[in-house]
Amino acid sequence: MKNTALRILNPFIGLLVCSQAATGLLSDHLPAKVFETVHEGGGILPVTGIALHVILNFGWIKNNLLKRPQTRA
Ligand code: HEM
Repeated sequence: MKNTALRILNPFIGLLVCSQAATGLLSDHLPAKVFETVHEGGGILPVTGIALHVILNFGWIKNNLLKRPQTRA
């Protein structure tokens, strides 16, 4: 279930980040309305997607990054 959600979510995050980068870097050549709608308005989408990605992977983060190293007896 979680893996299915990540399989759908991850490509969307990839596309949304590319869209932010492209519209941000090309902003001078885009109509103001397009920049406002896609970059400024749509900026919340990759941020939300990344937050969801971290939440869905929190088990991995806890096990691999937040666990104290085991000490040998
Ligand atoms: C790879 C990611 C991003 C790149 C390369 C990028 C690049 C840029 C650039 C170059 C500008 C200035 C455009 C101009 O004034 O001509 C800009 C403006 C802006 N960006 Fe991004 N951006 C990125 C991600 C985001 C995200 C994730 C958000 C929102 C959460 C966002 C929100 C905005 C807003 C609101 C402005 C307008 C700021 C203003 O009014 O001066 N950007 N971005």
